[in-house]
Amino acid sequence: MGSAFTVAVFGAYGHTGRFVVAQLRERGFVPVLAGRDADKLKALAVSESGLEARQASADDPASLDRALAGTAAVINCAGPFATTAAPVIEAALRAGIPYVDVAAEIEANADTFTHFADRARAAGAVVVPAMAFYGGLGDLLATAAMGDWTEADEAHVAYGLSGWHPTAGTRAAGAVSRERRGGQSVRYRNGRLEYHQDGPVTLEWPFPDPMGPRAVIGEFTMADVVTIPSHLPIPEVRTYMTVEAARDVSAPDTPAPAASDERGRSAQTFLVDAVVRSGGRERRAVATGQDIYAVTAPLAVEAVDRILTGRTRTVGVASAGEIFDAPDFLRSLSPHITLELRR
Ligand SMILES: NC(=O)c1ccc[n+]([C@@H]2O[C@H](COP(=O)([O-])OP(=O)(O)OC[C@H]3O[C@@H](n4cnc5c(N)ncnc54)[C@H](OP(=O)(O)O)[C@@H]3O)[C@@H](O)[C@H]2O)c1
Repeated sequence: MGSAFTVAVFGAYGHTGRFVVAQLRERGFVPVLAGRDADKLKALAVSESGLEARQASADDPASLDRALAGTAAVINCAGPFATTAAPVIEAALRAGIPYVDVAAEIEANADTFTHFADRARAAGAVVVPAMAFYGGLGDLLATAAMGDWTEADEAHVAYGLSGWHPTAGTRAAGAVSRERRGGQSVRYRNGRLEYHQDGPVTLEWPFPDPMGPRAVIGEFTMADVVTIPSHLPIPEVRTYMTVEAARDVSAPDTPAPAASDERGRSAQTFLVDAVVRSGGRERRAVATGQDIYAVTAPLAVEAVDRILTGRTRTVGVASAGEIFDAPDFLRSLSPHITLELRR
């Protein structure tokens, strides 16, 4: 639905930011291009004709205030979010506008809940972290799979990626997260994040057709371990990654994603299999689509649309599964995502 709302995109000239800008335009929003590099912003403004560009830095609050002035919402696509999330959320709170980001960093997402939950709730503000492929889609799927269940014993999100050509931003975010963990790995067990030194385990995950069973790295822990338990009482949340994609993303020489169609999407395909288990019963929601970076744009833009048109369930810091009607949100993402619910 078009709306002529003006939406600031911080990190607009990044790989994901560009998909978000294009999606906003397609949906009738007016993006304001924001980022720290004036030249890169100018170049984007030339290719995205008619859009305003505003230079802003995470360490300069006044520049962020100027970037957000007069906008209805901000989507933060500038990562590592360990650096950008808090200053941009502060600016959004000062401006009195909703904040959405695409952070895949577990610790940065956890920090957003920890540091801003009380203030955002008290202000009646909306802050949605990880509104993206990782953290957002898995949470929506697990929430949709729950149906009328109010609690579960376990949630599993298995990522069936054909491969993973990472952007510079993904590599930087991974490096920041690894540094913050001091060489340890992280998982979510017994109702909390747990840091450990256990090595990776390979197992077979029974992806539904057409993918079928595939080798995955167990406890390849993604942002869903923050978003899902932020609102669902599930003490065990685990995420898995197909071995080919895990290998790609950790190899230093894997190329960046390359466009393969007229929308700029890469040829990468995904199947995300979310399974919740309770008392020996199992429910499942499955999403398939193309290009994890490109699909982040309809996720983030749909979120902004719903926030600005009052289709939300709460205020404060909230994940996608908590603040939106998950099955309805997922169905609205067609044709970007094909959804199958098995409850
Ligand atoms: N959760 C998910 O599924 C998901 C999906 C897509 C992306 N992401 C995350 O989004 C981030 C961006 O990814 P990308 O694919 O767009 O990477 P990218 O193409 O490398 O773009 C990174 C963007 O962030 C900006 N940036 C980096 N550090 C900054 C800082 N301190 N202040 C201001 N801007 C800064 C960069 O600006 P400069 O060029 O000036 O450095 C650039 O615009 C990454 O953290 C990635 O993990 C997550």
